[in-house]
Amino acid sequence: MDQPQNRVFSGVQPTGNLHLGNYLGAIRNFVGLQHTHECIYCVVDMHAITVWQDPKELAANTREVAAAYIAAGIDPSTNIIFNQSKVSAHAELAWILNCVVRIGWLNRMTQFKDKAGKDREKASVGLYTYPVLMAADILAYRATHVPVGEDQKQHLELARDTAQKFNNDFGSPDFFPLPEPLIMGAATRVMSLRDGTKKMSKSDPSDLSRITMRDSADDIAKKIRKAQTDPEPLPESVEGLEGRPGADNLVGIYAALSDKTKADVLAEFAGAQFSVFKPALADLAVEKLSPITNEMKRLMEDPAYIDGILEKGAVRARAIADPILARVREIAGFI
Ligand code: TYM
Repeated sequence: MDQPQNRVFSGVQPTGNLHLGNYLGAIRNFVGLQHTHECIYCVVDMHAITVWQDPKELAANTREVAAAYIAAGIDPSTNIIFNQSKVSAHAELAWILNCVVRIGWLNRMTQFKDKAGKDREKASVGLYTYPVLMAADILAYRATHVPVGEDQKQHLELARDTAQKFNNDFGSPDFFPLPEPLIMGAATRVMSLRDGTKKMSKSDPSDLSRITMRDSADDIAKKIRKAQTDPEPLPESVEGLEGRPGADNLVGIYAALSDKTKADVLAEFAGAQFSVFKPALADLAVEKLSPITNEMKRLMEDPAYIDGILEKGAVRARAIADPILARVREIAGFI
């Protein structure tokens, strides 16, 4: 079985409130990779249900993530875009990998601790084994590269450990490649606009904490205007951002949106007050995000078109994953 050298897999959960962190940390990087890699982009609806999702909203949110992929510039005719639940290989491989991964590994996962909160007994079993399904997503395609935001690094390490343990346990060295995380750009961890020490997230109760992919130009400008900063002007160097999480976050967002480094941005804005920098950032964010938001809206008006893309993508995804799964079954001794 040939091992591709350049196969990218990544996914986004359809849990609503798709935000700037998802765009800058992940989706934008997906777009760039399509020119150099074979890319498979998934809407991970099976991951979404690890916490309760209203079924009607799940369907709409699944289409919304697919629309965001396409509107951001991923070409569905050359890349595979599909939703996870359409390809049974994910669930099937996850079961086998559940028997490879150790409980101790899962007990170390910080995302589970964060999401389960204090009342861990009430979290779903799915939330606990979430990283195993994520490893299965990647390994079902023997993907080599996985573009993600920084918060997924630990899950990626678990996927690598899982691949290695499977290969060792079953005496099939090199069967699963060890997937490389691609954590790219100046905004690998976009922070809340209300609190620069907390990650921007879909579940923050404050709508002002995040810029979403549905926000109007006015919403974007308002949220940036209200973003938490400090009274100092912007520093001359990146070191000067230390201990200034709100400022650091906005500079990072500016850098990522303009394809520059933070140092480049500071070279331009050193000494500027936020009363100057925030409107410049708002203009840039509107310029970059509004065309995507508008295109998403247009696509969402034609759900049949999106469903068609997801269906075609699933057929292509199965064509890759099914033979890999057949080999995994053989390796495991299933007859
Ligand atoms: P999800 O849906 O939480 O997030 C989707 C992507 O967005 C990135 N991200 C961020 N990046 C920068 N700043 C932020 N504040 C921020 N918030 C989110 C995430 O790192 C992610 O890349 N477990 C994954 C989904 C998944 C997956 C996979 C990813 C399931 N299977 C296989 C890669 C490969 C997740 O929680 O995504």
